[in-house]
Amino acid sequence: MATHSWNPTQYLQFEDERLRPALDLIARLPAGEPRLVVDLGCGAGNALPALAARFPGARVVGVDSSAAMLSKVAGKGFETIQADIGTWQPETPPDVIFSNAALHWLGDHERLFPRLLSLLAPGGVLAVQMPAMHAAPLRALQPVVAAKGPWAAKLAGIGSARAILEPAGYYDVLRPLVPGLELWVTEYIHVLRGERPVVEWAKGTSLLPFLDALADTPELRDAFLDAYAEALAPHYPRQSDGAVLLPFRRQFILART
Ligand SMILES: C[S@@+](CC[C@H](N)C(=O)[O-])C[C@H]1O[C@@H](n2cnc3c(N)ncnc32)[C@H](O)[C@@H]1O
Repeated sequence: MATHSWNPTQYLQFEDERLRPALDLIARLPAGEPRLVVDLGCGAGNALPALAARFPGARVVGVDSSAAMLSKVAGKGFETIQADIGTWQPETPPDVIFSNAALHWLGDHERLFPRLLSLLAPGGVLAVQMPAMHAAPLRALQPVVAAKGPWAAKLAGIGSARAILEPAGYYDVLRPLVPGLELWVTEYIHVLRGERPVVEWAKGTSLLPFLDALADTPELRDAFLDAYAEALAPHYPRQSDGAVLLPFRRQFILART
């Protein structure tokens, strides 16, 4: 269950960068006339208009556990359901289950992905994008900084989303279950600007479990963020024009039943 304090304002600071992989995945969805398209972990609903534009005849529904994120979808004309993806059961089998940057927050992908396939209508498609960033300084330095400093006791046992499987792992889980499977990895080079932009990026997503654990001690939270910024700095230097480049690896999965 995603119990983190998702903050749409923080998350949407990098709206374009975070939407880009969703658009790339939507562009690879097979042509067809799906009746029901579900966006799992739809968040603030950024991908919903693109899904609706791709499939004008479809009912497009967003599912997310965060009321704060779903509040940003209100008024955009899309149906939403507040539910945990881990236990969500559609009333009607969807023709397309789409998920951008959400399923890495759930564990046990060896069971989750077959379960999602089993929920699809015959001939349905499962289309997923997840960050594959565990080895990158952005993610790898979080537990290192968390373990050293006056915040360490409060952060003991706290961690962000676990590492996803390697592409070969998804192949072994999914290929026996579907006739068509595409896997690919893209590394985007995000051009970020502003004060400590990589920290700001992480505050919107992967740092949430750490920040939630320090929510009632703002001075420790700020000191932790300063130490994280200092640890990141040599890995994400400023370019000559002041921009910071954030290489960001993402894993894509397109399974056709
Ligand atoms: C990084 S945001 C991505 C939002 C959106 N898909 C996008 O591309 O902008 C991750 C979203 O997944 C949702 N989420 C994480 N775990 C979830 C779970 N177990 N059940 C439902 N939603 C979940 C969070 O609430 C959050 O809105």
